[in-house]
Amino acid sequence: MDKIVIHGGQRLRGEIRILGAKNAALPIQCAALLTAGTTTLRHVPRLSDVKTMSELLAGLGCVVTGDRTLVIDAAGVGAGPLEAPYELVKTMRASVTVMGPLLARYGRCRVSLPGGCAIGARPIDQHLRGLEALGAKIKLAHGYVELKAKRLRGASFTFDVITVGGTQNVMMAAALAKGTTRLENVAREPEVQELALVLNKMGAKIHGAGTSAMEIEGVDVLHGIDHAILPDRIEAGTFMVAAAICGGDVLLEHAPVDHLHAVIAKLEEAGARCIVEPRGLRVQGPEALRPIDIVTRAHPGFPTDMQAQMMVLATCAHGQSILTETIFENRFMHVPELVRLGADIHVNGNVAIIKGPAKYSGTTVMATDLRASASLVLAGLVAEGKTEIRRVYHLDRGYETIEKRLRQVGAKIRRFHGAPN
Ligand code: EPZ
Repeated sequence: MDKIVIHGGQRLRGEIRILGAKNAALPIQCAALLTAGTTTLRHVPRLSDVKTMSELLAGLGCVVTGDRTLVIDAAGVGAGPLEAPYELVKTMRASVTVMGPLLARYGRCRVSLPGGCAIGARPIDQHLRGLEALGAKIKLAHGYVELKAKRLRGASFTFDVITVGGTQNVMMAAALAKGTTRLENVAREPEVQELALVLNKMGAKIHGAGTSAMEIEGVDVLHGIDHAILPDRIEAGTFMVAAAICGGDVLLEHAPVDHLHAVIAKLEEAGARCIVEPRGLRVQGPEALRPIDIVTRAHPGFPTDMQAQMMVLATCAHGQSILTETIFENRFMHVPELVRLGADIHVNGNVAIIKGPAKYSGTTVMATDLRASASLVLAGLVAEGKTEIRRVYHLDRGYETIEKRLRQVGAKIRRFHGAPN
């Protein structure tokens, strides 16, 4: 198992190119199941989650080739079992996003229930209720959900909670349903809008993506497309925090500024400068950071996937910050590790009270989930001495060679392969 070692205290200077978004690539890979044609995806990030999804598609009968440019040929799907097995779903919950496309195109599928997750219970009840509203017959047995429907039909459905995955699953199903579907209280995330854009390029008729309601006129057939995946706002946000806490000056090439307003607002509140330039977004860190209060919300509110990273920024600020997590019930797993590095953080339910500036000193810490591991890398960049991060496989799920790209702007960071657990 790999580990990452950081010697902190470097001012970051230079440029980092922002790569394709994991949370856009994964559902778009699933959308390829909606057509017998070939789907070509460009700017695909080289991440373990993308690999897992390609493995799942191959298991369903797709021919998947390439990596930065991924070519998915779904002509062979349907010959074999239409199943998302437990072994894959347990490693990546986004695997359940094959339900809508398989049900819509083949009228049946069997998908393992995802089970628990480090950051919360994360049920899929809204996915199932939405598909049921379109006429799916659903049976739960032996840890799997079996879905059947001769042809899905358009219907009206209101989500009880705003769910990114649920919105994506039901909108893909509705794209091939008979008649028109109206979805209320849908997710407005850029990755949902990107999926709607892709489906409309495939021939779907989706209106309202980016607002809280969508109307989807079902069509009979969708065709293959060639599409470039949009840049990753969470990856960009992570590097923005790195520049801000290290008193740095970093240009983030291709950063999707329009998807980062909430993050930019909080960084500027803390005293960092965020400058939009023709090639991307420049972030300059101040001599001293100011405290900030954050409440995570669904888009366009402050993204939960930036909570752990911004917690590190708050620990570097002069004064008290309050951070409230409203999306996931257990997303403070990084706190004990940050405290081990020297932070002053008190958690009470879904509220964290942070006192700064922390005097971080390097030690060995354990990654627990994707964004928690990013926060440990950030703390290591400002810690005095050596920080060693274990279980970095969490990091590789969502960041492509993060250590190389941070080294590019002056960080003293290295990966060691085959380290003890
Ligand atoms: C997506 O997860 C992202 N993952 C997550 O990013 C992100 O944190 C999350 O959206 C919120 O923005 C991908 O896009 C692959 P949800 P998803 O359904 O779709 C509850 C990362 O770090 N809920 O919007 O699984 C749920 O428990 C990952 O890249 C139900 O109650 O999230 C949660 O509290 C982590 N019933 C809330 O809604 C349901 O049927 C939001 O979850 C579905 C969800």
